[in-house]
Amino acid sequence: MVETKLQGEALQTQIERLGPWFHNMTIGGYRTAPQHFLGDYPQVKFDSFRDALPADMTGKSVLDIGCNAGFYSLEMKRRGASRVLGIDMEDLYLNQARFAAAQAGLDVEYRKMNVWELGALGEQFDLVIFMGVLYHLRHPLLALDLIHQHVAKDMLLFQTMQRGSRDLSDVADDYDFQDTAHFSDPSYPAMYFIEKNYSGDNTNWWVPNRACTEAMLRSSGFAPRAHPEHEVYLCRRIEIPLTHEGPRAVYPATGPHSHPVAR
Ligand SMILES: C[S@@+](CC[C@H](N)C(=O)[O-])C[C@H]1O[C@@H](n2cnc3c(N)ncnc32)[C@H](O)[C@@H]1O
Repeated sequence: MVETKLQGEALQTQIERLGPWFHNMTIGGYRTAPQHFLGDYPQVKFDSFRDALPADMTGKSVLDIGCNAGFYSLEMKRRGASRVLGIDMEDLYLNQARFAAAQAGLDVEYRKMNVWELGALGEQFDLVIFMGVLYHLRHPLLALDLIHQHVAKDMLLFQTMQRGSRDLSDVADDYDFQDTAHFSDPSYPAMYFIEKNYSGDNTNWWVPNRACTEAMLRSSGFAPRAHPEHEVYLCRRIEIPLTHEGPRAVYPATGPHSHPVAR
């Protein structure tokens, strides 16, 4: 269905009707979330890492997981990506995303899908965007494992909220059972569990420190190639060497085109 582009009061009314918005976008001169608690978000975030991404995405496919109103999906389409699929589990945001894309005249597909269903997608993408979702998940490592196994072909653009130490120190390959000092070192990889709320949001579950963020990415088969902003990593997908025990995780759904798992 081709949506007619709205203007003036009709446009403003529709933007308000589709709210509340998390992404502050400018549509036909109107801003969708002018009072955003993080400022002009995610434009300010994007400005800090936009040059880390290829300026020309011609011929590339992009999967935007937790796309919200599609700010990053639209930016990738504007860079020439041939296929952009945005997924989110909230209709509120998907309706905003479809509206914003139609108003911009950009061809982006949006689907209601949970990150746990990635195995059923049956498709791999040159760039997977996984921004601002990890800390909303009760099972963050499983999400990274699913992305690696099922949908990531080459690059991962990743962002997580981080708290705690930003220091990195050498982590030994092994420690003696009696050796516990490193667990009190703030630079040791650690993730804080939020049982109640953080920032008034009961969907914030896990907040890693920097060392933990980078260790989780490496451990899931994503080698950081650029770190343009303290929360943002551009990673390359690499194969994970299997241990003698075999695969390390249980994958709940397997699509027809997922990467094969060694047995
Ligand atoms: C903080 S917003 C980040 C939006 C956008 N990626 C960004 O960086 O600006 C988190 C988004 O992830 C979506 N989300 C949270 N858990 C999800 C899940 N399990 N599967 C799919 N989307 C999820 C939310 O609906 C929301 O749109």
